[in-house]
Amino acid sequence: MRPFDHRKYRPFPPVPKADRRWPDRTIAQAPRWCAVDLRDGNQALVEPMNVDQKQRLFDLLTDVGFKEIEIGFPAASGPDFAFARRLIEQQRIPEDVTVQVLTQAREELIEKTFEALAGARRAIVHLYNSTSKVQREQVFCMDRQGIIGIAVRGAEAVRRCAERHPETEWVFQYSPESFTGTELDFAVEICEAVMAVWQPTPARPMIINLPATVEMSTPNVFADQVEWFADHIRDRESVILSMHTHNDRGCAVAAAELAMLAGADRVEGTLMGNGERTGNTDLVTLAMNLYSQGIDPRLDLAQADRIVETVEACTRIQTHPRHPYVGELVYTAFSGSHQDAIRKCLAARDENKETAPWEVAYLPTDPRDIGRSYEAVIRINSQSGKGGGAYVLESRHGLQTPRWLQVEFGRLVQQKAEASAGELTSAAVWQLFRERYLEPAGPYRMTAYHLDRHDTEKMELEVEGPQGAAIIQGRGAGALEALFEGLGRHTGLRFDVEEYNEHAVSTGTDAEAACYLRLRCEGRSETGVAIHRDSVGAAIQAVINAVNRHLSGRADRQAA
Ligand code: KIV
Ligand code: ZN
Repeated sequence: MRPFDHRKYRPFPPVPKADRRWPDRTIAQAPRWCAVDLRDGNQALVEPMNVDQKQRLFDLLTDVGFKEIEIGFPAASGPDFAFARRLIEQQRIPEDVTVQVLTQAREELIEKTFEALAGARRAIVHLYNSTSKVQREQVFCMDRQGIIGIAVRGAEAVRRCAERHPETEWVFQYSPESFTGTELDFAVEICEAVMAVWQPTPARPMIINLPATVEMSTPNVFADQVEWFADHIRDRESVILSMHTHNDRGCAVAAAELAMLAGADRVEGTLMGNGERTGNTDLVTLAMNLYSQGIDPRLDLAQADRIVETVEACTRIQTHPRHPYVGELVYTAFSGSHQDAIRKCLAARDENKETAPWEVAYLPTDPRDIGRSYEAVIRINSQSGKGGGAYVLESRHGLQTPRWLQVEFGRLVQQKAEASAGELTSAAVWQLFRERYLEPAGPYRMTAYHLDRHDTEKMELEVEGPQGAAIIQGRGAGALEALFEGLGRHTGLRFDVEEYNEHAVSTGTDAEAACYLRLRCEGRSETGVAIHRDSVGAAIQAVINAVNRHLSGRADRQAA
């Protein structure tokens, strides 16, 4: 066999099923959530959390709205035991939050687990043992009955310990660990054996948690497993069916979603998916997926930055910049066509209509919902084309540049970004625009203008020119015609207007005018832009800017 040889692997067997219903369902509500960051997430860390870090993450989880939180594996870890004691003794568990702890199905560990929970108002004891074929045969070297025996003895020990502490409201949870690698009939058999010990009722149900301990198949096969299990487990109404998917194939969230369609009531996972190997179900992503479909996730994810910061600080794992919903770059478009579409959709949105549905190309959700701003949405690099520059000019400076100028300026932005081989900040984009169009170098500077409006317009323009102060006079049917007539005589050049646009720019209380114009002169086109307190002033200044560019460019060409 070669080292990289697919023949080493076998396809996961499909679940034979003639009554598959889940593909026709839709998700209509959020599941019951359980955050396992402090247990499964913690177990996977290079440096597991200390008690203070656990407290910080616990506080975040309760603030976000989790009502069930697995706080650790107290029988296996000193800090987990100490943390459970701290929460209980210092009464740090909010009234409406239930803590959960994990234990293996071994009597001495179960005893210790109950010690850790002494005095809790309400707690979930989560018992597990491995049930998969590979674990039975190769790790435990036991047959099915042997494995059922472990689960049943564990369940009995849990029941005994709970009976000794009636002051706590106990909820029992059982996980056939490695459910995905367990034959379905055996998964049902072992869960029913545990149910026989715990005797759940609809009023006091138990939780059966089906872990995709290792994600082994496509999510549709997992959904089939879940639906099959839900159809065959007895007393379904006495069971809360919980999912716990891992991300080995990169589909933990999808698997949890399809499992919800297949009948899951509850989902365990971690904020941003930290967990063993490739991680657990990412609850932020799953909740935001619901949210983006108009479903109340019953978690408050508005403070995404606090979530990211806290998780990073406690896990010492950096968030990928493209992490769904909360990564630094996920609301950012570099590509020009994306920027253009986003800019148009945002401009078309009626912000006054609170219920206006969100329909913005390339942005499945509104970045403001999670405390991000539009500022970061459009960032400029060499992929940005016309849209990015136009967005900066409009969003930061109120300039609605016409399409012809967007195309022209987009090329400049691209050249500049390519030359700098990186990102251009908004300030750099603005500087480029100013230098090129608003304040180009050149021989003329307008100091004043006068318009005399009779039959024809008479324009008198005071300028500082190449020969010092000068007055340029012209006549025409309109202000611009008068200006070109005067400029033509003064410079000996003919100017034709190729493009002309103007609009009002509102800067708080004052309104100004912006003018964009492209002139043709001596076979070349030059653009000038100006912002002025009135529209005639803006037009004259834009002409002067374009003329200045033409003349300084001509001087450069002659010198070269
Ligand atoms: O992934 C898993 O199987 C677990 C169990 C202990 C529930 O974390
Ligand atoms: Zn797990």
